[in-house]
Amino acid sequence: MPLEQKPLGFDSAALEPSIDKQTMEIHYGKHYAAYVNNYNDAVKKQPELDGKPLHEVLAKDCAMVKEEIKTAVRNNGGGAHNHALFWEILNPAGKPGAEPVGKLADAIKRDFGGFAQFKEKFEAAAKTRFGSGWAWLIKKGDKLEVISTANQDSPIMQGAFPVIGLDVWEHAYYLKYQNRRPDYITAWWNVVNWKVADDRFGRAK
Ligand SMILES: [Fe+2]
Repeated sequence: MPLEQKPLGFDSAALEPSIDKQTMEIHYGKHYAAYVNNYNDAVKKQPELDGKPLHEVLAKDCAMVKEEIKTAVRNNGGGAHNHALFWEILNPAGKPGAEPVGKLADAIKRDFGGFAQFKEKFEAAAKTRFGSGWAWLIKKGDKLEVISTANQDSPIMQGAFPVIGLDVWEHAYYLKYQNRRPDYITAWWNVVNWKVADDRFGRAK
């Protein structure tokens, strides 16, 4: 069974003004669709991967994937997985100043000293990721950490659980923010779904 696109769950204009409608339409309808389609194409060359959960396929640097399609699976399977998470943690009802909730809030305080300290670290990771990639809050072992990855690499590839992730590819912000990645990062906090983030944290292994 081919991988399917995760439904967006809200209207593409619902994140305005933080993330604009046209960006969401192209991001979801073109870029994300391409990752999913290209992943399905690649997997045709290794049919036993068909229907396997993406997090299993991506684990340990795509250890179960044969060499011939490893790069295609890493880029497109990673892209499909990262974007599914990205849609999941966006909140059309988000408000400026919203902060983490529940056990995740406690763990952020424990591991970073507080939300402000975590935010500073996360923003630095997002701003300094050269070229295309992602900034992440991950759970590794018993601890939360901030990292960034290049291209469509997922924290799952290195044995970590992604709690939230911020897409800093230009396709995620260029139409509205052009070269102003920091402004996009600032606006993105307004639409993070902290309830979903806390749920994800609860599921982290
Ligand atoms: Fe993206």
